Amino acid sequence: MLQTTVDFLRDRISENLGDFVPEIGIVLGSGLGELADEYCSLFVPYSEIPGFETSTVSGHKGRLVFAEINGKKVVMMQGRFHYYEGHSIQKVVFPIKVMKKLGVRTLILTNAAGGVNPAFNPSDLMVITDHINYMGINPLIGINDDSMGERFPDMSEAYTPRLINLTKKTALKLGIDLQEGVYIAFPGPSYETPAEIRMARIFGADAVGMSTVPEAIVASWAKMDVVGISCICNSAAGVSNVSLSHEDVIKAADVAKDRFKLLIKELIRSI
Ligand code: HPA
Repeated sequence: MLQTTVDFLRDRISENLGDFVPEIGIVLGSGLGELADEYCSLFVPYSEIPGFETSTVSGHKGRLVFAEINGKKVVMMQGRFHYYEGHSIQKVVFPIKVMKKLGVRTLILTNAAGGVNPAFNPSDLMVITDHINYMGINPLIGINDDSMGERFPDMSEAYTPRLINLTKKTALKLGIDLQEGVYIAFPGPSYETPAEIRMARIFGADAVGMSTVPEAIVASWAKMDVVGISCICNSAAGVSNVSLSHEDVIKAADVAKDRFKLLIKELIRSI
């Protein structure tokens, strides 16, 4: 299926954009999809792409967008697939494998997350330094595709140190406050309990979400450079006494979106 999808997209690209080869892939998280509206040379709805699922979460559009941003050719996922939607974990990471085959070498993963670290405030941005896979599943389970990566890939630098530093330097240059920390992924879709968040804090997590980790594992396995940026949209359960809602998450992402877009655009320029 992977080759069928890649051939389909290569045909669409060459019909519309000639010899365009995307070098940077971006996964746009909840409420952060606007970048793909601003820059779009070609879009392909997921419903037309063989092997892709159709994203169902509100705040996610569900299309692949090809564009040039600050001199770099990029492919953006405007909306991702989540495990909690009922997709198999293989379907969740399938687009990352497609990006790799299309030529992407650097992957920028973004998400909306809850703040586990009590020093974080809603609409803060955080560069991910490491993750904890608490989803209870690993996307590499099954027969290993040796042409993409090895059976037992090292995850000690799943997030590329050079890109973490570049993101910090870029934020500093732009005057954007940037937090850094460990992202823990729960399967969702229920938000966590206060007890689970206390556990996450003891584990060493700073932010919590329901995505990103499967994609980062596959990208690192496939030897892509990876950088992750979370928009802290709320204090995680029990960190403050406010109750959680998806609407508030989207609102906080909206407050952060201009800063977020600026950071991503400048990061792309300097990659
Ligand atoms: N928990 C999990 N996922 C999230 C949260 C949260 O608090 N906020 C945004 N996505």
